[in-house]
Amino acid sequence: PINELAVTPPMGWNNWNAFACSVNEHLLLSTAEKMAAFGLRDVGYQYIVLDDCWSLGRDKNGNLQHDPEKFPRGMKFVADQLHSLGFLFGMYSDAGSYTCARYPGSLGYEEQDAKTFASWDVDYLKYDNCFNEGLAGNPKITSERYRTMKNALQTTGRSIVYALCNWGEDYPWKWAHTVANVWRMSGDIYDSFDRPDPRCPCTGEEGYDCPYAGSHCSAMNILNKAAYVVHTSVAGAWNDLDMLEVGNGGMDDEEYKTHFSLWAAVKSPLLMGNDVNVMDAKALSILTNPAVLAVSQDTAGVPVNRMWRYYVSDTDTYGQGEIQMWSGPLSGGDQLVILLNAGNSPRLMNATLADIFYDSGPEGSAPEIKENWDIYDLWANRMDEATAQSIIDGSPTSEVAKFYYNATETSYKDG
Ligand code: GLA
Repeated sequence: PINELAVTPPMGWNNWNAFACSVNEHLLLSTAEKMAAFGLRDVGYQYIVLDDCWSLGRDKNGNLQHDPEKFPRGMKFVADQLHSLGFLFGMYSDAGSYTCARYPGSLGYEEQDAKTFASWDVDYLKYDNCFNEGLAGNPKITSERYRTMKNALQTTGRSIVYALCNWGEDYPWKWAHTVANVWRMSGDIYDSFDRPDPRCPCTGEEGYDCPYAGSHCSAMNILNKAAYVVHTSVAGAWNDLDMLEVGNGGMDDEEYKTHFSLWAAVKSPLLMGNDVNVMDAKALSILTNPAVLAVSQDTAGVPVNRMWRYYVSDTDTYGQGEIQMWSGPLSGGDQLVILLNAGNSPRLMNATLADIFYDSGPEGSAPEIKENWDIYDLWANRMDEATAQSIIDGSPTSEVAKFYYNATETSYKDG
């Protein structure tokens, strides 16, 4: 890993999924205030990340300019406000000549831009790969470009989490451990559990007739890709399955629980992607589930692996129904097991100890499997809807803190 800043997967909020280019100072600051009031800051959602579309261009000296209509008091002001609210501040740029939304990119300006971000007290940089002069799919050049910005950020002397954005064309899971703290590995997430529309394959390509421009990957699309790469994550250098959609309305409660559980279990960053002004009780109680957050932030830092998958006959409109089992170790000798039913009907599923521990022994040896386990359901102690609603309606933050404390101290183990 390039630094000690992401020993557990980063948590926070990013505006892109809910707001795309509609960004401004008020959005970031009011979101942060709400997140603090809802207890989300206190359970670990730390970074407020401003995505694309914040800029205006460059000044005559080549310095990046913020858009003064969106950010009338500048970016440093936003950083100061977020810091005083107890958050850290993330921003966005691009390794090519433009960002994905055609604002100036940092290619050729890496040192200057890194200095600018540091001078604004930025704590996290998401670095995209659009307008790359046709060189995506050339990992040698792509990785060099990303590395140039990594070096520039380090030269500033400021602690900045470096989040590389690549849609997988350059296989970042093979080389990004010495370049970035986290790396995207798929096209953009779309707020749907299964494939939303066959005209929108999950490729990350733009420009064809797709009603969901720019974002084509369902939660299952991303998971099924992640299954082949998440084992490459190590503490401090993580595969990033893209921002969360929990609370955005396109999935039902079971699907959002599944989406959130798997993102936590594979140790993806957990960046909320919803509009907290219209946060509903169900979403809040998913995002604050203490047992699942404990899995995400577990000190062992080992992602679960997919141990098996089977296709089942009940398919979705466009997708293919399937069942999967994921498993991996937690600290303290615990083991996480996920039975994932992505079909359309309830199903009895079982996982044998041999399946669960399939590859946990030293190579070539049959793993020794402890026969007796206590089993805990990590969703059993989810906050009830009435409590969640009262927090949203304005009860003091201490309600969540209290819930979180009780849950981690007792209920988590009482399952
Ligand atoms: C790309 C990224 C998204 C988002 C947009 C912004 O599509 O993958 O996450 O940052 O650019 O334009």
